[in-house]
Amino acid sequence: MDVKETVREKYGAAALRVTSGGSSCCGAAPSSLGCVDPITANLYDSGQTGQIPEEAVLASLGCGNPTALAKLNPGDTVLDLGSGGGIDVLLSARRVGPTGKAYGLDMTDEMLALARENQRKAGVTNVEFLKGEIENIPLPNNSVDVIISNCVINLSADKDRVLREALRVLKPGGRFAVSDVVVRGVVPAEVRRSMELWVGCIAGALEENEYVRKLTEAGFESIDIEPTRVYSIEDARQFLAGEGRDVEAIAPQIEGRFMSAFIRAAKPKDCCGASCCS
Ligand SMILES: C[S@@+](CC[C@H](N)C(=O)[O-])C[C@H]1O[C@@H](n2cnc3c(N)ncnc32)[C@H](O)[C@@H]1O
Repeated sequence: MDVKETVREKYGAAALRVTSGGSSCCGAAPSSLGCVDPITANLYDSGQTGQIPEEAVLASLGCGNPTALAKLNPGDTVLDLGSGGGIDVLLSARRVGPTGKAYGLDMTDEMLALARENQRKAGVTNVEFLKGEIENIPLPNNSVDVIISNCVINLSADKDRVLREALRVLKPGGRFAVSDVVVRGVVPAEVRRSMELWVGCIAGALEENEYVRKLTEAGFESIDIEPTRVYSIEDARQFLAGEGRDVEAIAPQIEGRFMSAFIRAAKPKDCCGASCCS
């Protein structure tokens, strides 16, 4: 099965778990009482969770809180890549107000159904959930002020294409403001694979310098990667031991190398297309 099908199946099942009264986490420790793993737990404060339906909070599978860190202005058009149960779309919709619009894009039918139900419960009308892939964004060139995303770009097997598409749909001067898992420095392939299983990601997280390089190649400027949670060996110890890994032996290759980060970049003001105007 290819990466996309595996991801679709995994997140379709996660959406159904939420619909049937449970919750689901991005990491390896799902709990019926809510996400307790160090990646997904406590990302949103009560001021934010109080604004949206409980099911949208329970469906949160992110690794950061992009709407808390992104600059969103009233009237902005926001696009969330891989919107899941819709938590960041609904929070963005409140921030951009009735003159703005928040789009969520997801390829998984069960997630879209959950997100639309959460929109109905939240009673917000400046929201639209679109079916599609982040590698082929179904929106016109230069139509979005801010792109957010929460732990999704690391799942794509074609990150260059995702970033080119993000640049294409952003307006000149538009902002890219996403949370993602990134790796710092070189980590042996088999250790990385175990950690990716712990994080819950099917395809790989990018090394931070590689992320900067890919954003630059896509045409972005003003790039910044800010760690928001750096994971320690203790966070993953139980999982890695369960996987049969010699935790003490691989600890130095893990400690401080895997992190959730907030990634900011901008589309140049004089750029009008996927590879800018030539
Ligand atoms: C880790 S969950 C994050 C969901 C949401 N952003 C959140 O914070 O709760 C990943 C979501 O991205 C979607 N997804 C993954 N790869 C995708 C792709 N290539 N195109 C569109 N959606 C994708 C999945 O269906 C799933 O809903």
